[in-house]
Amino acid sequence: MKGEGKRNNAKCWAYVAAFVVFQTAIILIFALTVMRIRTPKVRFAAVSVENFNTGNSTSPFFDMKLMAQVTVKNTNFGHYKYENSTIKILYGGNQVGEAAVVKARARARQTKKFDVTIDISSTSLSSNSNLGNDIASGVLPLSSQAKLEGKVHLMKVIKRKKSSEMSCTMGINLGTRAVQDLNCK
Ligand SMILES: *[C@@H]1O[C@H](CO)[C@@H](O)[C@H](O)[C@H]1NC(C)=O
Ligand SMILES: *[C@@H]1O[C@H](CO)[C@@H](O)[C@H](O)[C@H]1NC(C)=O
Repeated sequence: MKGEGKRNNAKCWAYVAAFVVFQTAIILIFALTVMRIRTPKVRFAAVSVENFNTGNSTSPFFDMKLMAQVTVKNTNFGHYKYENSTIKILYGGNQVGEAAVVKARARARQTKKFDVTIDISSTSLSSNSNLGNDIASGVLPLSSQAKLEGKVHLMKVIKRKKSSEMSCTMGINLGTRAVQDLNCK
């Protein structure tokens, strides 16, 4: 009788130990997936050009409208709420256009998509820019920058500040009037 009691006791402890290991594993998996807060990614998914107008290599200028689809990819298990912001378009490090991003939220594990139109023009560039050479080469190199400041909300109690930065480069092909080599970090 006494020996059997000991055996049952040992069995019981084994169950408890197994349960504790199991619980720990569940908590660990939860912490590493659901509770892990990742930085949302903002980028241009696609860009096209309208109202295209450019000069030549001796009298260089550009003036056009970019139609861009922006994506905010939120892989968190809670929504991402971001504030008003701006997307800037740069040529040779100088701003040539900008568009407003209105505050919104990207739902949990969702990629939010919206469109912006950005008028860009070379009027603010100094005359000693490289524009004549770029126009002669047939491709206008541009880059874009934006910073979304916001918070990831998890399970109604956790709020974590996360800012998401866009940094893309692209070339406007002056022959085809299409955007090529769109590349976002
Ligand atoms: C460049 O454009 C200007 C203004 O339109 C024009 O006067 C000039 O002839 C053009 N030059 C060439 C090489 O096409
Ligand atoms: C955000 O932008 C919208 C639209 O431009 C504007 O009405 C609103 O006042 C802005 N909100 C803040 C907090 O700046």
